[in-house]
Amino acid sequence: MQSRQKPLFGLYLHWPYCLSKCPYCDFFSHPCQAPNEDILLAGYLRDLKQMANLTDNHRLTSIFFGGGTPSLMSPAFMEKIMHSITTIFTLSDDIEITLEANPDAITKEKMTAFKNLGINRLSIGVQALNDTDLKFLGRRHSVQTALNRIEEAKNIFPKLNMDLIYARPNQTLKAWETELQTALSLGLSHYSLYQLTIEENTVFGQKNISPADEKTAEQLYRLTDSIMNEAGIPSYEVSNYARHGEESRHNLTYWMGGDYIGIGPAAHGRLGLMATESEHSVDKWLKNGIMSEQLTPDEKFEEQVLMGLRLTHTPFPIKGLSPKGIQKARQLGWITLSDDDSTITPTLNGTLMLNELIIMVLP
Ligand SMILES: C[S@@+](CC[C@H](N)C(=O)[O-])C[C@H]1O[C@@H](n2cnc3c(N)ncnc32)[C@H](O)[C@@H]1O
Ligand code: SF4
Repeated sequence: MQSRQKPLFGLYLHWPYCLSKCPYCDFFSHPCQAPNEDILLAGYLRDLKQMANLTDNHRLTSIFFGGGTPSLMSPAFMEKIMHSITTIFTLSDDIEITLEANPDAITKEKMTAFKNLGINRLSIGVQALNDTDLKFLGRRHSVQTALNRIEEAKNIFPKLNMDLIYARPNQTLKAWETELQTALSLGLSHYSLYQLTIEENTVFGQKNISPADEKTAEQLYRLTDSIMNEAGIPSYEVSNYARHGEESRHNLTYWMGGDYIGIGPAAHGRLGLMATESEHSVDKWLKNGIMSEQLTPDEKFEEQVLMGLRLTHTPFPIKGLSPKGIQKARQLGWITLSDDDSTITPTLNGTLMLNELIIMVLP
């Protein structure tokens, strides 16, 4: 795993469109089959230039095309945006460039085209490995389609991740174990395993759908941790599991409090104490550009604690945290302290109580 000191500098691009809207999803995305890529490109280019003017560091260690469903973008668009990025920024030799993809919104041909344009990591949203639950989650693809795309992607991209959502209503431990073992049998080196959250602004939220109850969710989390450990793919963040050395460098940048640029609607960025944000509306984003504000050192520190304690096996510096809170968290078995008392690391119990732990140790 990356040391906390290594300077990471990421670029996030938000693609705001999907083929359809999933009933659980609160990400900023709209259904749209054929958006006007020229208009979008002009907006992204303007954002890139604006951000480049705000920083002396022009050497990127990661790029992440997220969304929405950025695999819907055309290879021609990807070529233009990659050209713009490489004109304005330098890419580190070992740069990680991730593209999020839906099984039904990418083809083998498109994967090859994206790979040839520099994408070296694909993150496929599978969500469930049984067709009944895929239907419930409003997914357009079947298990078989997802498996086919993964097999194709394996031969094209050096790094591959799949997203799954568990703790679905009435999901049993046995059912999840079966799905997780199927996922592991695919032999990937990175898995993002999210517990279903019900967000107010979604169809599930409006329908008052309940995820698995708290006790079952905890059992599911412990089971996941144990199965993934056994498979040699331990957690490195609350919901992310990877073989050693295969962690997502881009996401580590967020969790380690590094700098990153965010371009496109609803994108966020951080440059030291500067926090940038864009409108959650394509039209308003195009009109208004990136907005920024200065965080106070206290706000920045709080954010670093919030993000940093999400890392499950990476020690977090104790400096600035509440000594009383640390003592209490230790007594509760939520953290371990390093031998020289300079860092804390959340335990599995601590990660399960993360919100309470953060409140406890904040000064
Ligand atoms: C920004 S989404 C993009 C992925 C891609 N568009 C797809 O759907 O396959 C990233 C991931 O967040 C997860 N996610 C989205 N909404 C969620 C929710 N309400 N609860 C848990 N996970 C969620 C899903 O696993 C999804 O793949
Ligand atoms: S989960 Fe993915 S495909 Fe579904 S609405 Fe959200 S971003 Fe779009």
